[in-house]
Amino acid sequence: MSKDHLIIFDTTLRDGEQSPGASMTREEKLRIAHLLEKLRVDVIEAGFPAASPGDFEAVRAVARAVKDSRVCGLTRARAADIDRAAEALKDAVAPRIHTFIATSSIHMQHKLRMTPDEVVEHAVAAVRHARQYTDDVEFSAEDAGRSEIDFLCRVIEAAIAAGARTINIPDTVGYAIPQQFGETIATLLERVPNSDQAVFSVHCHNDLGLAVANSLSAVLNGARQVECTINALGERAGNASLEEIVMAVRTRQDIFPVETRIDATQIVPCSRLVSNVTGFPVQPNKAIVGINAFAHESGIHQDGVLKHRDTYEIMRAEDVGWSANRIVLGKLSGRNALRTRLQELGVSFDNDLLDEIFVRFKDLADKKQEIFDEDLQALVSETAPEESDRHRLRFLHVCSESGTTPHARVELEIDGEVRAGSSDGGGPVDASFQAVESIVNSGTDLLLYSVNNITSGTDAQGEVTVRLSKAGRIVNGQGSDTDIVIASVKAYLNALNRLGTPAARAHPQHDGV
Ligand code: KIV
Ligand code: ZN
Repeated sequence: MSKDHLIIFDTTLRDGEQSPGASMTREEKLRIAHLLEKLRVDVIEAGFPAASPGDFEAVRAVARAVKDSRVCGLTRARAADIDRAAEALKDAVAPRIHTFIATSSIHMQHKLRMTPDEVVEHAVAAVRHARQYTDDVEFSAEDAGRSEIDFLCRVIEAAIAAGARTINIPDTVGYAIPQQFGETIATLLERVPNSDQAVFSVHCHNDLGLAVANSLSAVLNGARQVECTINALGERAGNASLEEIVMAVRTRQDIFPVETRIDATQIVPCSRLVSNVTGFPVQPNKAIVGINAFAHESGIHQDGVLKHRDTYEIMRAEDVGWSANRIVLGKLSGRNALRTRLQELGVSFDNDLLDEIFVRFKDLADKKQEIFDEDLQALVSETAPEESDRHRLRFLHVCSESGTTPHARVELEIDGEVRAGSSDGGGPVDASFQAVESIVNSGTDLLLYSVNNITSGTDAQGEVTVRLSKAGRIVNGQGSDTDIVIASVKAYLNALNRLGTPAARAHPQHDGV
């Protein structure tokens, strides 16, 4: 029996980016978008173009680059937002405009300060306006999870009549429970008279840890699009995890009446790239993409798996992109081998960037015999610093020995000028950060400092994440090196550079319409 197609709508670059500290540059979004296209997601929500000129440019770049997925821009139910999104999407092969307005009493009263009639009017006007630019218009009833069902039916019917071809039901605050959320979808499909003219979609947040369960329950009740993110990135506790949705549907074909077109072997590379770009590490026991997801620690399990892998494995690690042999390159590998492997990883680069990556690659290969995919991803992230990068590390000397106070001397290049500083500290990392601060005096607060090894072994590169905040703005910085003190300083400077980029951007959901 032929199955329905389940549309996978990825919002890592929009809702994912709304996680504090996860904002991405245009180049970073492009790198992720290329890999999402390779993963074969149906729709890439690239951002909220009206947020800032930088967001507009990022959506435009993704719209121009991606050919095999639809590219979507989010808008509030405002003509000006929609015009801006249409402009950013104008070169896309398949553009989608996604417009939304809140429909719960609490949001209408306290956030929008609108009557239900006014909300319906705005929704209809927004959808009509968007339809002047494209046939592919999606309408979301924000906070649908807490909206009154009669009103939801009314606004959805009006949005479809105005031309929306996708109707999205967000559980914006992660309040829904699987059975009840599934029933809501079934009720809407049954009660909205023109429901057959639109695809019903869901967008679940994970505040109660139920985003994936709610999304799957919706699919069982007729939803045919799921909005999700890589590594479950997203506001607060995140969105539904793309990898978990896709693999649940694929693994339990006996239950789900749908199929996706996802190339699951790209899941792990996508997960790594998103983690690498945003500085949000993947927890080791995270389903599908955690480092332990396919590790069989206990003797009984290992024995079972060796005798017959289905005893304890419901999926194969290779199917989601974990490769058994992950050693890719070494000291003797040449430029061509590097180019080929980068292409296989979905990294796009020009010759200048390849030259730079190659120099760093050789440098790393001198310190570390085996270069893994993860090392290459980290190298790419660090090479070609953004033009706006104000702070660069030139030199670091750290002295740390038992019985003495650690001391660091650092030399930075700031806007082309070389400046030096030094400091004692509680440990080598603390001394280095204070030495940097003795020069930059940034006035930031350090919210998080974490170190992960990118691969295993004591010669592995350490990948450091530093989260800084200043005046309510939060950014993550990342750095990697075989020397974790150097990696730490690189991460610190990366965060400072990100803080220096323009901050004024609107949040789509934090004000009225
Ligand atoms: O969570 C939400 O309601 C959203 C909408 C803008 C779709 O992200
Ligand atoms: Zn959301």
